[in-house]
Amino acid sequence: MTALHVAIIMDGNGRWAKKRLLPRGAGHRAGFERMLSLVDHAFERGVKWLTLYALSAENLLRPKEEVEGLFGIFRTYFPEKSRKLKEKGIRLLVIGERELLPEDIRRLISDAEALTADGTRGTLVLALAYGARQEIVSAVNKAVRAGREVTEEEFSALLYTGELPPPDLLIRTGGELRLSNFLLYQAAYTELYFSEKFFPDFTDGDFDRALEAFSLRDRRFGRI
Ligand code: IPE
Ligand code: IPE
Ligand code: MG
Repeated sequence: MTALHVAIIMDGNGRWAKKRLLPRGAGHRAGFERMLSLVDHAFERGVKWLTLYALSAENLLRPKEEVEGLFGIFRTYFPEKSRKLKEKGIRLLVIGERELLPEDIRRLISDAEALTADGTRGTLVLALAYGARQEIVSAVNKAVRAGREVTEEEFSALLYTGELPPPDLLIRTGGELRLSNFLLYQAAYTELYFSEKFFPDFTDGDFDRALEAFSLRDRRFGRI
């Protein structure tokens, strides 16, 4: 398999919980657990870049209790999990509007990025407080500050995803058929795959089925 970049919109935690008459926070915890093992599985499958949409900038406008619950999960597990990534040789990169996150979480993120910086087996990109429109506007502003016109290649390097290749495959769980402000620029020629399953129910086997479907796609990039 050539070096693949897979992106996942991990949606459906809230509905997963609702179906079980549990609070939404239980869905987020279940989603987080699922994410941890799916990350291992994806890198074992040879995926080189895995980009996970964990929290959008707009999600921060949800009720305070839910947002705090998400930050709580992050605070509890992040340091230990980043040590695990380090052991596995996986580099962590976080993309998004960092200034929208609490100070202590920003510190956890930069510590984890520094700790894992020399990982060469693969890159895990976590989109947190992320919004593609915000990212594009920030890239435009960087170009404006540099005071000159940019090429397509230079513009892409100004995005939070910097030197990463664009995603080959984008999976969205949870049944919605939209991008919800994720990688709008980078996904120009990405193959899209939608699963009805809520993210906590999305198994390693489901991930393999998405890879299989991807391998059967004919990517033409506008050619014939
Ligand atoms: C995705 O699940 C995780 C986050 C957005 C944090 P949701 O919380 O959007 O779950 P649903 O879509 O309401 O089921
Ligand atoms: C997209 O899901 C964001 C994440 C999964 C992190 P949302 O639940 O926020 O998307 P909408 O509101 O259904 O478009
Ligand atoms: Mg949702």
